[in-house]
Amino acid sequence: MKVFVTGKLSDKAAQALSNFAQVDAYESDEPMERSQVEERLEGKDALVCILGDRVDAELFTKRPQLKLVANVAVGYDNINISDANDSGVLITNTPGVLDNATADLAFGLLLAAARRIVEADGFVRRGEWTGWKRELMLGAELNGKTLGIIGMGRIGKAVAKRARAFGLNIIYARKGNDKKTDDELKKTFQAERVELNELCRRADFISVNCPLRADTRHLINKNQFDIMQPHCVLINTSRGAVIDEQALVQAMEERKIASCGLDVFENEPQVPEGLLALDNVVLAPHIGSATRETRAAMDELAVKGLIEAFNGKLPTNAVNPDVWQKFSAKLKTTASP
Ligand code: GLV
Repeated sequence: MKVFVTGKLSDKAAQALSNFAQVDAYESDEPMERSQVEERLEGKDALVCILGDRVDAELFTKRPQLKLVANVAVGYDNINISDANDSGVLITNTPGVLDNATADLAFGLLLAAARRIVEADGFVRRGEWTGWKRELMLGAELNGKTLGIIGMGRIGKAVAKRARAFGLNIIYARKGNDKKTDDELKKTFQAERVELNELCRRADFISVNCPLRADTRHLINKNQFDIMQPHCVLINTSRGAVIDEQALVQAMEERKIASCGLDVFENEPQVPEGLLALDNVVLAPHIGSATRETRAAMDELAVKGLIEAFNGKLPTNAVNPDVWQKFSAKLKTTASP
C-alpha cells in the first residue's frame, strides 16, 4: 500500500511505516499548500497529516483511493468528519500521548502571564532594571486562588493535577452528564463542577482545554468577558476559535481581564495586531505538544493505528469507528497494486 506523509516523521515511526508501506514524504517542516497535498496524494491509500492540513469532501472526491487519514494531533477540527463518513474514510488522531506536554505548557503560560515573566525578561534585556524595588513587576500569586478549567478531558485533568500541586482550588465546566466522572473529579482533585458562566464569574485563572467543535466555537465571547473578574488570567492551549478573538482583543484593550497566555489562534499563523501590541499577553506559536518525547509518541501512535487498520483491526484511536465497515469494504475493492 502507498502512504503520503505531509512532513517528516520521527525516526522510529518513519521506520515502522516504511517497513509496512511504500512511503512518499514531504521533506520539509514548512506547511504544504492544499494543491500540493492533492497532487502528492494521487494513487495513495493513506494520508498522514498535521493539523494545518485541511481534509474534506473535495479531497476525498479527487482522491477516491484514499481510505485512511492519520491526523498527527489530538484535535481534528481540520478534518470534516461527516465528509469522511460519507466517503468511507477512516480518521485517526493521537489522544493520550500529549496530555502532559500540553498541560505543562498551559502552566508555563499561566505562570508567565500571572508573574509577568516575559515582560520582566524584556525589561531586563532593555537595561531598564535599576535595582530591587518593592513594587517592581508585581503579579498574582497562584496559591489559594481558583482555577477554572473549561473542558475536563485528558488534558484538563493533567492541568488539574498540576493545579493541585500549586495550591489552586479547581472549578470546571464540561459537557457530558455522567455523575461518576464528576464524583471522581471531586475525589481526586476536590474539583467542583459549575456552569460556564459561573466559572467565568468565580475564576481567578481560566484554562481552556476543550476541543473545537460546532458547539464550542466562540464558547468564550463578549458575554463571558463581561462577567470575568478584572484580575482574571486566561490561558488557551486548545484551539483559537474556542475564544472569539475579536472579543478577546477588545476585552484586553478595555482591561476587562488582567492578562492572557495564548498558544492557539483563530487564523493561525496570524495573530491579531491588537494582541501583539500588548505587554500583558504571552504568545506562543502552537507548541502545546512540542516536546521531543511527545512528538515522537504522536508519530508512533499515528503509524500504529494506520498499520492496524490496514491489517484489518479497528484502531483504538479511530475517531469515526462507525465507518469501519465501509473502510473494510473499500480496502478489499481498491487495494493499490
Ligand atoms: C495539537 O494542537 C493537537 O491537537 O494535537
